[in-house]
Formats: sequence, structure tokens, C-alpha cells
Amino acid sequence: MKISKNMQNALNNQIELEAEASSNYLSMASWCEVTGYDGGASFFYAQSDEERTHMLKIVHYLNNLGIPAVISATKSPPSNFKSLESILKIALKNEQTVTAAIHKMVEIAQKDKDHSTYAFLEWFVNEQVQEESKFETLIQKFELIGRDKLAIHEIDKILGTPADTSA
Ligand code: FEO
Repeated sequence: MKISKNMQNALNNQIELEAEASSNYLSMASWCEVTGYDGGASFFYAQSDEERTHMLKIVHYLNNLGIPAVISATKSPPSNFKSLESILKIALKNEQTVTAAIHKMVEIAQKDKDHSTYAFLEWFVNEQVQEESKFETLIQKFELIGRDKLAIHEIDKILGTPADTSA
């Protein structure tokens, strides 16, 4: 099976985006850990692993088609953050960028009549709906619970509960 050069480039670009997301979340996890946000740390370490599995899905997809996946260097992520709330807002923005890139790939697959890649991307489309809604829900907690020390401690605890991280 052949996929267009355009589609190959987009998939390789997505490998980079997922790798970048993984390293961004790793940096956020590390910041949370040193700042004392244990819940946030475990949430973002898990989130970083998740992004790596997304990246690997695309690597395997391309390689299984006989198209060697391109692994490129990623930018260094920011290492300092303002607050737990600001991290979650940055994360939501990142996810929105990833969603837009995935939707663009779906359009390429449609245009190419590339049914295999279209079917492959369906999982990512659904995953992004969940990812965005997960971060929106977490950001909303600051409006609901508050931004004082106790409220932030409470939100950090919520981040550390497996039920919320698996959403
Ligand atoms: Fe792999 Fe959170 O996008």
C-alpha cells in the first residue's frame, strides 16, 4: 500500500509533535515534583508516557508500511512555570495544536482517498476529544474550588487521583 508524500510528511511531523508534547509534559511533571505538587507530578509523568505511546503508534504505522519513520530532534521544553493553573492552560493549548494537526491529516487522507490512514487516524481524533475535555475540566476546577493555597492543594490531589488521569 502506498501513501502520498504529503501524508508521509504530515505523519512524520506528527511524530515530532507527539515527542514534543511528551517532553513538555515531562518538564511540567518535573517542575511539579520539585515544587511540591505531588498530584500534578504523577499526572504529568503519566501524561508524558501517554504522548510517547502516541508517537510510537505513528512510528510503527509508517514502518509497517515500509516507510522509515523520521525521528527528529525536539526543542527544549520550558523548565519554569508560573503555577499549576498556568501549566494546565499551556497543556490545553498544546492539545489544541495537536488536534488541529490531526484534523489536517484527516483532510489529507480524505483528499488522497487514503482509507487506511483515514482509519488509522480515527483513534487520534477520538483521543483528542478526550484530552481537550480532560484539561478543560481540570482548568474549570480553579473557578469552582478557588485559587488559595488550600484550593490548589485540593486540585493537586484531584490531579493525583487515577480516576481523573484516566479520563
Ligand atoms: Fe498525543 Fe495529547 O496528544
